[in-house]
Amino acid sequence: MAGGRGALIVLEERTTEIGQLISAYLARERELEDHAVHLLFSANRWEHVTSMKEKLHQGITLVVDRYAFSGVAFTSAKENFCLDWCKQPDAGLPKPDLILFLQLSPEEAAARGNFGRERYENGPFQEKVQQSFCQLMKEKTLNWKTMDASKNIEDLHREIKTVAEEIMQEVKNKPLGELWK
Ligand code: TMP
Ligand code: MG
Repeated sequence: MAGGRGALIVLEERTTEIGQLISAYLARERELEDHAVHLLFSANRWEHVTSMKEKLHQGITLVVDRYAFSGVAFTSAKENFCLDWCKQPDAGLPKPDLILFLQLSPEEAAARGNFGRERYENGPFQEKVQQSFCQLMKEKTLNWKTMDASKNIEDLHREIKTVAEEIMQEVKNKPLGELWK
């Protein structure tokens, strides 16, 4: 999202009550109904919107982890959830100028540290999530870029920096949009 200076916003799970609930759900310490947990993830994003907008209006660039696309991809990978229903709670959030999809095969992802501990961290489910992301990436009103996440950190960092700097120049004087509206 546009601006001069940068700020990394990782929607941090433990800083709010909703975040704590989500965190306990992911750690399998508690159960939540599938629709309810989807709405909680979305609510967790909405509770950050005021401060995100403040920063954007100060000209700060935001790098946001755990945004709406994860929400839609993960819930729609469950049985009986369509993409459209999953998108609705996040419609109207600040629209990103660039969405980077760091692509890694589920096999390679599984080989990385700690995989398998959390809820959702199993091969078949991750395959479905990846298919949902492919659906989402077809939307031409959003600026998706796929990066090869199997590269080494330095090369990947360089590539991300290049595309990020380009888009920051491009959107410098453009108004903030609304996602899925
Ligand atoms: P993270 O790996 O980005 O920290 O996300 C934690 C887990 O929660 C991961 O398995 C993806 C899942 N998730 C959702 O199910 N819905 C969401 O809205 C987000 C942001 C993540
Ligand atoms: Mg994770």
